[in-house]
Amino acid sequence: MLSLLLPAMLAVQAMALMEVHVPEQPVVALHGRDATLNCSFSLATPFNLSDLTIFWQLTDTKRSVHGYREGHDQLADQAESFANRTSLFPAQLGLGNTSLLLRRVVVADEGSYTCFVRVQDYGSAALLLQVAAPYSKPIVTLEPESNLRPGDEVALTCVAYGGYPQADVVWQDGGGRNLTDNITNSVVANEEGLFTMTSVLTVVLEPNSTYSCRLINPLLGEESYASVTITGQNIAFPPVALWVTVGLAVCLLVLLIALAAVCRRKIKESCEEARREAEEAKELEEEESKTAMTLLKS
Ligand SMILES: *[C@@H]1O[C@H](CO)[C@@H](O)[C@H](O)[C@H]1NC(C)=O
Ligand SMILES: *[C@@H]1O[C@H](CO)[C@@H](O)[C@H](O)[C@H]1NC(C)=O
Ligand SMILES: *[C@@H]1O[C@H](CO)[C@@H](O)[C@H](O)[C@H]1NC(C)=O
Ligand SMILES: *[C@@H]1O[C@H](CO)[C@@H](O)[C@H](O)[C@H]1NC(C)=O
Ligand SMILES: *[C@@H]1O[C@H](CO)[C@@H](O)[C@H](O)[C@H]1NC(C)=O
Ligand SMILES: *[C@@H]1O[C@H](CO)[C@@H](O)[C@H](O)[C@H]1NC(C)=O
Ligand SMILES: *[C@@H]1O[C@H](CO)[C@@H](O)[C@H](O)[C@H]1NC(C)=O
Repeated sequence: MLSLLLPAMLAVQAMALMEVHVPEQPVVALHGRDATLNCSFSLATPFNLSDLTIFWQLTDTKRSVHGYREGHDQLADQAESFANRTSLFPAQLGLGNTSLLLRRVVVADEGSYTCFVRVQDYGSAALLLQVAAPYSKPIVTLEPESNLRPGDEVALTCVAYGGYPQADVVWQDGGGRNLTDNITNSVVANEEGLFTMTSVLTVVLEPNSTYSCRLINPLLGEESYASVTITGQNIAFPPVALWVTVGLAVCLLVLLIALAAVCRRKIKESCEEARREAEEAKELEEEESKTAMTLLKS
């Protein structure tokens, strides 16, 4: 009885199982670049390519990514988003390499892909595709920008764009200490699915302080970095206030000089008047004395 069953069971097992290998770790592809989704199988005996069938499909939706049957690509039911972007490696098929080349990867390609292979037996395996894009160098701005005084509360805004997936944002001070308070992060996706990340740090201003913003892409482990240093200059009188101050000072000086000049003239005038009065008085006296003399003569 057992001797009859055993070969049958083995046959069923062999029919159902063919080992198909895909990467265990997620495949990380750069946005806009080409990616190879590895898939391979091994057969002890050589096989005819016309007996090989390959289906690449999205694991979740079962939508077709790429098909191959009877020696030709079968793309009639291919999902539109993959049109003109997929190919197998024809020279590699006979070696059991059924890897898929996916061109110009976009964020929407992210997900699980199943590689299904049949020769006489069949098997399948699924891999995960993750898309990554590096962030631009961030730009750090200060709000408000002028009229700053120590003790003021300012908002430092760090913006980086074109990245994927979400980055970890780390703010540090000049001493490399992590600042964790008063940080607000937000993310906006563009039509390609790439992110613009904005992080706002609120701090109480101190002179000579440096704040740096660091973005770490978790898939690329890559950092982009920018910093801003608030020096005495930011905090000193801003130009407008300075010119107003100088202008006022100059006005005051001119006013004082004018006042001094007026005063001097007034003093001089009153002096002259006094002298003239004195002279007049003398003349008058002389006249009087003359009169007196004439009176005496006559
Ligand atoms: C694909 O397979 C080749 C050969 O085994 C290997 O060198 C390469 O790293 C693999 N690529 C990925 C993305 O797993
Ligand atoms: C492969 O199969 C095709 C069609 O069945 C046949 O014409 C061809 O001779 C076969 N080739 C080999 C090497 O067996
Ligand atoms: C694919 O390429 C063909 C021929 O080059 C073209 O006619 C077709 O519009 C392309 N399809 C897409 C979705 O780009
Ligand atoms: C399959 O072939 C392609 C193209 O030569 C190669 O890049 C890839 O590493 C191969 N994959 C495996 C698993 O050997
Ligand atoms: C700051 O935070 C980052 C990310 O959370 C961490 O990797 C790093 O070790 C921290 N550094 C310090 C000095 O705490
Ligand atoms: C966080 O912000 C609040 C109000 O904006 C402020 O009172 C507080 O001092 C800030 N904390 C730190 C650590 O800067
Ligand atoms: C700020 O730094 C400069 C140069 O490092 C230094 O000359 C100045 O004294 C510092 N000012 C304060 C207020 O710490």
